[in-house]
Amino acid sequence: MKILGICGSTRKEEQSGVHTLVRTVLEASGCEYELVSLRGKKIGGCIACLGCVKDNVCVLDDDLRALRPKIAEANAYVIGAPNFYSTLNSVTHAFLERWYQFRHREGDALWGKLGVAVGVGGSSGQFPAAEIDKFYLYNFIETVATVTGQGAAACYSCGYGDTCKVGVPYMLYGEGAKITEEMIPNVAKQPDALDTSRRAGAELGRRLREDHDRAEVTRRMQAKMMARFKEST
Ligand SMILES: Cc1cc2nc3c(=O)[nH]c(=O)nc-3n(C[C@H](O)[C@H](O)[C@H](O)COP(=O)(O)O)c2cc1C
Repeated sequence: MKILGICGSTRKEEQSGVHTLVRTVLEASGCEYELVSLRGKKIGGCIACLGCVKDNVCVLDDDLRALRPKIAEANAYVIGAPNFYSTLNSVTHAFLERWYQFRHREGDALWGKLGVAVGVGGSSGQFPAAEIDKFYLYNFIETVATVTGQGAAACYSCGYGDTCKVGVPYMLYGEGAKITEEMIPNVAKQPDALDTSRRAGAELGRRLREDHDRAEVTRRMQAKMMARFKEST
């Protein structure tokens, strides 16, 4: 059983809350895994050229090309992204848009697989986690667990955080607040986020080892997708 972990943060791994939580989930799974960072990768969004329709292989030549076999071969995914403007950051969105290549003519490379959605934000990670969950559903992947944490907004380290009137420290602590080390959110010091990550990883590992029936998961996800589709039309 191999899990593909994706860290959608563009910050260095030691600065990234997403990286910490995705890695914690993967380690707790007890499964073989690979953790790929999207930092520095050039991945454009889907351009709707339909070049993938015949064979479910995207024709665009960028850094997603090398990731395609890893996506297709993995049994499960742990995908994490930062909250940018209350949604996914653009590279994670582009990465997931490009999964369009797997969909055509009942291409079922991803159907019935399992996933964990991870989101981190300066205030909350719920928005990106919900977006990842939505992308999973479009591919009939079941979200086994969702993990969120509070990360350090860049305002804590930009150099102007003590005085800037539109920065996160000002919004949270008001005028005159001086930034201290203890004030800076760090997921590695958030017991709830770490516990949820470990439980998510353990559950993903258990599901993969014990009762993972891809056909059954596919049926359930198709039914869920159809119900949502009917609700929204
Ligand atoms: C362009 C940009 C937009 C952001 N927008 C939001 C936001 O709307 N809500 C929020 O909670 N955090 C926001 N943040 C803060 C990041 O989500 C936060 O720094 C998070 O820790 C980044 O994840 P990372 O630590 O894995 O890099 C934003 C950061 C950037 C750079």
